[in-house]
Amino acid sequence: MELKNQKWPADEFFSRRREVLAAWPTGREVDLDEAVAYHRRAGAGRSMAALLDQARTSGRTLAQPRAGVALLLDQIELLRYLAAEGEADCLPATIDSYTRQNRYAEAQAGIEESRAAGRSMLNGFPAVNYGVAACRRVVEAVDVPVQVRHGTPDARLLAEITLAGGFTSFEGGGISYNIPYAKDVPLEKSIADWQYVDRLAGWYLEHGVTINREFFGPLTGTLVPPGISHAVGVIEALLAAEQGVKNVTLGYGQCGNLIQDVAAMLTLPRLAEDYLERCGYRGVTVTTVLHQWMGGFPADESKAFGVIAWGAATAALAGADKVIVKTPHEAVGVPGKEANAAGIKATKQVLNMLRDQFMPPTPELTEEIAVIRAETTAIVDKTLDLGDGDVALGTVRAFKAGVIDVPFAPSRFNAGRLLPARDNRGAVRLLEPANLPFDRALLDFHRERLAERGRVENREPGFQMVIDDIYAIGKGMLVGRPR
Ligand code: 5AD
Repeated sequence: MELKNQKWPADEFFSRRREVLAAWPTGREVDLDEAVAYHRRAGAGRSMAALLDQARTSGRTLAQPRAGVALLLDQIELLRYLAAEGEADCLPATIDSYTRQNRYAEAQAGIEESRAAGRSMLNGFPAVNYGVAACRRVVEAVDVPVQVRHGTPDARLLAEITLAGGFTSFEGGGISYNIPYAKDVPLEKSIADWQYVDRLAGWYLEHGVTINREFFGPLTGTLVPPGISHAVGVIEALLAAEQGVKNVTLGYGQCGNLIQDVAAMLTLPRLAEDYLERCGYRGVTVTTVLHQWMGGFPADESKAFGVIAWGAATAALAGADKVIVKTPHEAVGVPGKEANAAGIKATKQVLNMLRDQFMPPTPELTEEIAVIRAETTAIVDKTLDLGDGDVALGTVRAFKAGVIDVPFAPSRFNAGRLLPARDNRGAVRLLEPANLPFDRALLDFHRERLAERGRVENREPGFQMVIDDIYAIGKGMLVGRPR
């Protein structure tokens, strides 16, 4: 089937389903009608969409960790601990790297090694290998909604198993789970494979079960200009809505400058809502999630708590509906349950204290908002143009042309010509805008902000600034100053 942004016809979807479910034996366990009945029995208490709705209307920010281990009973114990001791508002199963790459036989070996060793030998929960019934044991072990978090270019079987398994939210998208994660997967393929996931989520909705779809906002980390990640999020929302999805969460990764981060979080849902409306998708609920610092972390735990708290403060002041929490063991690797709970507790302390505070609309904030709006609009409009109104085709062409360009991405289907650097206040700007479709005023704005930093540092803005910014955080700083 040729790629286009059009809701998959039922016969196409169901014939493709047979191949998808045949890829691993547990695929046989999926029975859509039975799964819908299961979700209906489980009720609103397990629904991520319902919880997000509550958070949005009450102005609360939910705290969610990442968490995944190889063994089923350990996964259950971990989630119970993070709910009880960590007071997590909602929970995940973070999926292991083999499953993310559809290497289920190796995931199976990982499960067996973990059983023999008595501890997790995988970096996440291999949900496909465990199958539908085991997934239900995981979601039933806690009384908060549970989401699937991963990083999978082809997540079709994972979605089939976990949604039938009672998970009510599924992260990822055809751009955000390809370009930052894979080198060789064409966008035509990942977008089509995620249309399948969205079509599946849409099928559940049509049968009375709302599945929340979240898009991965941070892309490659802490130096992605908000206009670029916002454009990707808006596009993924449009692609999902076409397949029948009605509940989306757009993500953003904290960059570190408070005003820029707040402006990003304030513009994100408005832009998504505007484009959904403009493209004819009605009744789509939009919420937001902020990812705490997705860059390098200090090994020192007290310092790590400082980074975590700054992310929590940003989420609270920006009115994020949800925040994804880091842990004091981020520098070391996959955290244990105690470190994980500690990150959530530190975060919730800050969220609670800042619950009634917001950033005032200063001229600086207003300007940042205008810039991010203009950038996102320029990229999305040009993408729609390139596709003659078809956002799926437009996205493939936009990446080819560098109209969307994600800095530091491994994918060979990304131009990779753009270079970001921080300005004198730590906001992420463009040193090399490459082929972004920005007008003169926007380009001048970026150039002027970096020139200002250059004057303070007594040097011309250049590649060395980028390098200094990448290394800065390792030295405990946001802006990479010379010497
Ligand atoms: N458990 C907890 N956190 C995880 N991450 C990746 N896998 C797991 C897991 N199994 C975290 C990393 C990083 C982020 C991208 O995801 O530590 O913070």
